[in-house]
Amino acid sequence: MKNLGMNELRSKYLNFFGNKKGHTLLKSFPLIPIDDDSLLLINAGMAPLKKYFTGEKKMKNNRATSSQKCVRTADIERVGKTERHGTFFEMLGNFSFGDYFKKEAISWAYEFLTKELEISKDDLWVTVFKEDDEAYNIWHEHIGIASERILREGKEDNFWELEVGPCGPCSEIFVDRGADRAIDENDNKPGNDNSDRFMEVWNLVFTQFNKDAQGNYTPLSHPNIDTGMGLERIAMVLQNKDNIFEVDVMAAIISEIEKLANKKYKENKKDDVSIRVIADHSKAMTFLVCDGVIPSNEKRGYVLRRLIRRAYRHGKLLGIDGEFLTKIVDKVIDTYKVEYDELETNRDKIKDIIRDEEERFQKTIDQGLERLNSLIDTIERVHGKLLDGKEAFKLYDTYGFPLDLTKEILEEKDLDVDEKTFNDQMQIQKQTARDARKKDAGWSLDNINTDGLAKTEFIGYDKLAIEAEILDIFEENSEASSISEGNNGIIISDKTSFYAEAGGEVADTGIIFNNSFRAKVIDVQKQKDIYFHYVEVLSGEITKGQIATFEVDRDRRFDIQRNHSATHLLDQALRDVLGEGIKQAGSLVDEYKLRFDFSYNKAMTKEEIKEVEDIVNRQIAKQELVTKEIVDYKQSQQMGAIGLFEDKYKDKVRVVSMGDYSKELCGGCHVNYTSDILMFKINQETSVSAGVRRIEAVTGRKAYELLTKSENSLKVIASKLNTNVSTIINRIESLENEIENYKKDISRLKSNNSSDIVNELKADVKEIKGINLLVKKFDNVPMDELRDYENRIKNSFDNLIIVFASVSDKIVFTVSVDDNLTNKYNAGKIVREIAQITGGNGGGKKNFAQAGGKDISKLDEALKKVSEII
Ligand code: ALA
Repeated sequence: MKNLGMNELRSKYLNFFGNKKGHTLLKSFPLIPIDDDSLLLINAGMAPLKKYFTGEKKMKNNRATSSQKCVRTADIERVGKTERHGTFFEMLGNFSFGDYFKKEAISWAYEFLTKELEISKDDLWVTVFKEDDEAYNIWHEHIGIASERILREGKEDNFWELEVGPCGPCSEIFVDRGADRAIDENDNKPGNDNSDRFMEVWNLVFTQFNKDAQGNYTPLSHPNIDTGMGLERIAMVLQNKDNIFEVDVMAAIISEIEKLANKKYKENKKDDVSIRVIADHSKAMTFLVCDGVIPSNEKRGYVLRRLIRRAYRHGKLLGIDGEFLTKIVDKVIDTYKVEYDELETNRDKIKDIIRDEEERFQKTIDQGLERLNSLIDTIERVHGKLLDGKEAFKLYDTYGFPLDLTKEILEEKDLDVDEKTFNDQMQIQKQTARDARKKDAGWSLDNINTDGLAKTEFIGYDKLAIEAEILDIFEENSEASSISEGNNGIIISDKTSFYAEAGGEVADTGIIFNNSFRAKVIDVQKQKDIYFHYVEVLSGEITKGQIATFEVDRDRRFDIQRNHSATHLLDQALRDVLGEGIKQAGSLVDEYKLRFDFSYNKAMTKEEIKEVEDIVNRQIAKQELVTKEIVDYKQSQQMGAIGLFEDKYKDKVRVVSMGDYSKELCGGCHVNYTSDILMFKINQETSVSAGVRRIEAVTGRKAYELLTKSENSLKVIASKLNTNVSTIINRIESLENEIENYKKDISRLKSNNSSDIVNELKADVKEIKGINLLVKKFDNVPMDELRDYENRIKNSFDNLIIVFASVSDKIVFTVSVDDNLTNKYNAGKIVREIAQITGGNGGGKKNFAQAGGKDISKLDEALKKVSEII
């Protein structure tokens, strides 16, 4: 077996599949899934590649390999306590998208393990899905693994799937780490979860199905390969370590924790758990923040918050004082930046966010812990087992203790929490918040039962004012028969011209009216094709069954359409300029602007931005027809349409084309000709998170406004500069020259002036007993100028002693004594003596010293003293 470092191992793997087996080498994708709401965080190498498995996307060469960063938190409680659980890890994988299948996947895995890593064949065991004879035969007949070492398992163990997406039966590869690691005599084959003797290192998934949110499995048009090997795990096996925290790259991180805690790893079991938790969580938090996750109480933000708070608390358990996580984060970045340079680029940002969260938690945790400890005392006194859920909720609500943290602390004392009461409390709080919101708005969809409501026909792509029948009305969450003047409510009609918010495009606003009422439409949302119009009744009363005019605010809609169509052109222009590899990561279109996020790992240059802007404006000038067609999904892919459609399981999709230039799947509102966009101007290009850039741009009226605004600023500038816009640059250049000349004049004047002063000073030098003495008072002259005068006078006199006093609200004395005289006169002593007369003090060297004085009225007396001393 080869002993390889983790970085070496990663390169070896990527080189094997990338170079020797012809796979496309992919860089790790960010941890936040792009365009995939089914997943909180990337948790497997295949997760960012789902669309290649389903065939929705194509890669030139249908095989790829990567080392993908992953975060899994399902087992967070076990992290630190076991040898192989971590929340953050890297997964090595090779993938085939309808290219090679089982035989190659198995042979190459075997070749990599036995030839490249030199793991002995005698140490390998494998499992296959019990009905998968094909895989069994490849392992047995083709590779030559003994039949007793191939275990057939059920769906539980040998079928791999995520919540939704590509999945299939799998075959796992185990390494026998030696009988000395066995926990009992039966521990002689893979399968015992409590033992670390047989370590699962690699999972080969034969991806044949796509699972949807309802749990239906549809066969994929072509079978795929997805494999996953935990980098830390295989490193641990090769390096013959007891756990993933001891592999080479972890050393620096663990040693930093040891240093901060002033404890040694592997001396005390309880401390080891804490050290491992901190090490693991610090890795996870660093990568999460780097990829754009911010601590919060929801979703990914909550995962991150929990990791930071948990790590912080384990720091407390180790006795580490105060804020410390960023010191470990630094080590994580140092360790991983070889492979992930984005960590170095974002170092300060990552640390700021983590420090901020840590400080926030620090403020409350001490009080919270004190409270929890006293609660625990009480429970123990009465030999109780459970913490009251209300108390746990209070800890959560007031002290920021996530429930899991409270549970973990209780668990250390063999106690638990009454979770039901905790959850009830949470519900009550949510309801209160909801009620408060409802009171504010009068609208809420929360409790509307959509069963039995008729679908709304949307005919608003090109008709902005239509007649429709009002079918249902809701007020304050419950059905109503009418809404009267001054009140808010929701109405549902048989048809509508109002676009409901979707696909990044905001909802239309406008009015609904007839002879008996007038209502303002504030927002439109849809659920299951039912359109909910949020209205404020301005006059009269809306009642069920009425026919009314639904009229969209046209100007606003046109602005939105311009921005939406421009977004499509922008998407294509970015591909033209930056390469096909960019991917849309989110977009927002409203009446003011368009915002487009896309995956790209560096800032665009000025030239690239200009080029993109030019391309879009050229497409506008071309007056291309914008067509919208409903076609089969398959057909849309043949047409080469990009983008993703929200209802991708519907067989019909809408393709929006702009001439030959852009084709996208889209359900939004668009202009009829590209020239309707009028003009496109990029406002800014910024970073959203590592690997994701954001462009904000304006079109039409807003672009005109933007240009007018900058033109006005230019006019103001020109008038302030007494010139015209066309000659501003010349004017600025000539002003720059003028300033340069002034600077020269000033320095010349200064030096003339000081020559005059120096001449005057020279005239003031008096001779006493063969010593040339100059004593002079100045009005607030800075020290460097005083020193300058001194230097310039010194050259003209021998045996010179200079005493200067510069007076402001205090006095600064300097005394300089010619080097020839320092055996008789000491500048330090002189300055001290005179400064003391004015209530000050000071000192220095024999040839130069300075002092501060206070009492200005004693200054003359002090200066007189100089001649006396001499
Ligand atoms: N996707 C498979 C896994 O994560 C390889 O185990």
